[in-house]
Amino acid sequence: MSQQTAILHLPGQDPIELPILKGTAGNDVIDIRTLGAAGYFTYDPGFLATASCESEITFIDGDKGILEHRGYPIDQLAEHSDYLEVCFLLLNGKLPSKAENAKFKKIVSEHTMLHEQLSKLYSGFRRDSHPMAIMCGVSGALAAFYHDAMDLSKEKHREIAAFRLLSKMPTLAAMSYKYTQGQPFMYPKNSLSYAGNFLQMMFATPCEDYVVNPVLERAMDKIFILHADHEQNASTSTVRLAGSSGANPFACIAAGIASLWGPAHGGANEACLDMLIEVGHVDNIPEFIAKAKDKDDPFRLMGFGHRVYKNHDPRATVMRKICHEVLDDLKIDDPLLDVAMELERIALSDPYFIEKKLYPNVDFYSGIVLRAIGIPRSMFTVIFAIARTVGWISHWKEMVEQPGQKIGRPRQLYTGEVDLTFPKK
Ligand code: CMC
Repeated sequence: MSQQTAILHLPGQDPIELPILKGTAGNDVIDIRTLGAAGYFTYDPGFLATASCESEITFIDGDKGILEHRGYPIDQLAEHSDYLEVCFLLLNGKLPSKAENAKFKKIVSEHTMLHEQLSKLYSGFRRDSHPMAIMCGVSGALAAFYHDAMDLSKEKHREIAAFRLLSKMPTLAAMSYKYTQGQPFMYPKNSLSYAGNFLQMMFATPCEDYVVNPVLERAMDKIFILHADHEQNASTSTVRLAGSSGANPFACIAAGIASLWGPAHGGANEACLDMLIEVGHVDNIPEFIAKAKDKDDPFRLMGFGHRVYKNHDPRATVMRKICHEVLDDLKIDDPLLDVAMELERIALSDPYFIEKKLYPNVDFYSGIVLRAIGIPRSMFTVIFAIARTVGWISHWKEMVEQPGQKIGRPRQLYTGEVDLTFPKK
């Protein structure tokens, strides 16, 4: 089939033919790379209709509520896989064989310890620091400790960086929490699973034995799976942009962590639980719904809406199920779950939310699950960061390995002053 094109008519110029590129699924894209030569840029702040790259990692159909990693639907991965297997899939593009799976898990579990000197960095932070603030610093600091394998043109070096990040991120995260609690850091235990080890480093103390609760371990693992990757979101795009200049991968991940922190992105799970606590009782829900609908009030229902999903967020469906399983298993009667379920019911039948296609997103239920596991609110976004690290690395790797990769350099519509004369003194 011959290449389809879009014809663009610009004032005073011959029509320009722009190639239409087809993916395996999702919207076709118009290749506008030659447009600059015609004296025009395209304008799309917030990237509402811009494909910033070509990728084979994750596919989202926001209208149908589909999320697939390397072709596998997220609900199947959450049900039948585990986080490290999903990591292998994201990084390598295929499911591992039994032997590959075992080898991958062994390597990850054997690189969980940090350079001992790195732990000293924590004492430079105030004890009341937000753990995400600490994470921004200590993750970037990895670049200062692990620079022995940093020739990014070498596949082996890229692989070593990937394993280091994947293995050490839970350790960095748990230490960020322990530090704010004034408790001693717990070393990783390589005999435990990825999720089990994280729980151990979070909740164990040197004074007594800690036994990982298998229900919480599985729930934690599923939370990691649900947050592992999400295509070209703000933090992933940040990592790609930072990495496009050839920057150190640990520094790129620190940039991703900074971007994730915001309440419109990864910070929404913490903000959502704050909101549910503030609502407090089902009787107060109408007041909050009215605030969310009021154009003059900046308040938004946290955990609702998504740039891409204009239908149910498939991650939210899985998270809702996990939420019920965990609370049932632990026999926890959390009044916030009642508030959340009623809020969801009312919002989903309200014309404002229906017309704007605002559905609960993954963060709507994740806060309640994390709270049941015993994770403090300030650590919610940190857990998102642990899980998303594999997505960031997969995209970083894909980008640097793509032939003809260029530095990311958007253009602008300039609206400021021009050609002023500096006053003589
Ligand atoms: N509550 C009330 N109104 C909302 C909400 C909300 N949560 N979200 C969007 N709207 C309205 C918004 O006011 C706007 O109305 P209008 O057209 O009248 O101006 C319309 O819906 C479209 O909103 P938008 O801000 O233009 O949409 P966006 O795609 O730029 O923003 C979003 C997406 C996720 C930032 C936004 O829905 C939001 O702020 N949600 C709450 C925060 C949240 O839960 N974020 C977590 C996202 S999922 C985790 C992740 O992947 O990071």
